[in-house]
Amino acid sequence: MDRILADRGVRIIVCCGSGGVGKTTTAAAIALRAAERHGRRTVVLTIDPARRLAQSLGLTELDNTPRQVKGIDAEESGGELHAMMLDMKRTFDEVVLAHTDPARATEIFANPFYQAMSSTFSGTQEYMAMEKLGQLHARGEWDLIVVDTPPSRSALDFLDAPARLSRFLDGRMLRLLLAPARAGGRSMFSLVTASLGMFSRVVQKVLGAQLLTDLGGFVAALDSMFGGFRQRAEQTYRILQARETAFLLVAAPEPDAVREAAYFAKRLGEERMPLAGLVLNRVHRTTVEGLSAEQSLAAADELDRAGGNEATADALRIHAALAEQAVREQRVAAVFTDAHPSVPTVEVAAQPADVHDVDGLRTVGDALSRP
Ligand SMILES: Nc1ncnc2c1ncn2[C@@H]1O[C@H](COP(=O)(O)OP(=O)(O)OP(=O)(O)O)[C@@H](O)[C@H]1O
Ligand SMILES: [Mg+2]
Repeated sequence: MDRILADRGVRIIVCCGSGGVGKTTTAAAIALRAAERHGRRTVVLTIDPARRLAQSLGLTELDNTPRQVKGIDAEESGGELHAMMLDMKRTFDEVVLAHTDPARATEIFANPFYQAMSSTFSGTQEYMAMEKLGQLHARGEWDLIVVDTPPSRSALDFLDAPARLSRFLDGRMLRLLLAPARAGGRSMFSLVTASLGMFSRVVQKVLGAQLLTDLGGFVAALDSMFGGFRQRAEQTYRILQARETAFLLVAAPEPDAVREAAYFAKRLGEERMPLAGLVLNRVHRTTVEGLSAEQSLAAADELDRAGGNEATADALRIHAALAEQAVREQRVAAVFTDAHPSVPTVEVAAQPADVHDVDGLRTVGDALSRP
């Protein structure tokens, strides 16, 4: 990690991985280290951080702009750490404001479909994270932007959701559904438009005319912004492909998380997006490397037979369980490392408690940088 952070050419680090593996923790730890050890003016964009971690970073409420984190140890290095939590709805509002006139924007904000979509639509969070990254990058005031990604089931959602959303916003399908009659007169009449017409009549019956009018208004209002949405998503996509970006995959040493990481690595390759490394988070290690599980168990049994110290036998059994787990985890991790031998991998030990303060983040940062 220190090698990556020392490279001033790297301006964006994106932490990806499946749900709950430690993306937010890793992003915060990296950003802290970049500021403290590498003197970089860093901003970390967190998404749904645990409350206590947010508090440690001085983030007490959802706030869509970066705030400087006080009380870090960066006097010597001259670095700075700023942190923010993504506010999905406000980011969406900003995008709307940027792409349309105030009257139109007011109309859109009042629309129930917009309200629902800007706060709950699946994919909106991914899209808005990318949007926010684009904004932070465009401002040009950051040395380094560390991006956390949403708690999606799949890491791939971060790459796929924006395209899916902009396809939806593109509204072609919706327009078809809403206005099949506009497709033309009788000559244009086809089975498709006929069934669509039937569909919208059914929808109208079920949802009511007002709702359909709202939806129509929403689509029409968004109409003026389609190009903008697309263009911006594409722009950010290009930033993600640039040499200044480093993707970090975070995975727990569990079969699903590692498989997911392997898929994601393959996908990054296809997208020509730069993968900088794999973080294997929450691994278990024994402190006595030379003592295998079998030896340890045999020694415990021997002690029991000889009527030796019980606590020592217990300690040996605990060691055996840990050693077994470590071997199992290594086997799981090999699924990734065998498939991607050239991707640097670093391990972070499972800490005895949750990582929710600056000290905890430093410990994780140290682990990430161990040669
Ligand atoms: N190495 C570690 N040792 C112990 N606890 C850890 C470690 N890394 C992360 N945690 C804890 O695990 C929990 C989940 O971590 P985190 O929030 O970073 O995951 P995430 O990938 O961002 O999750 P989500 O997908 O929900 O956003 C947190 O409570 C965090 O403190
Ligand atoms: Mg998270």
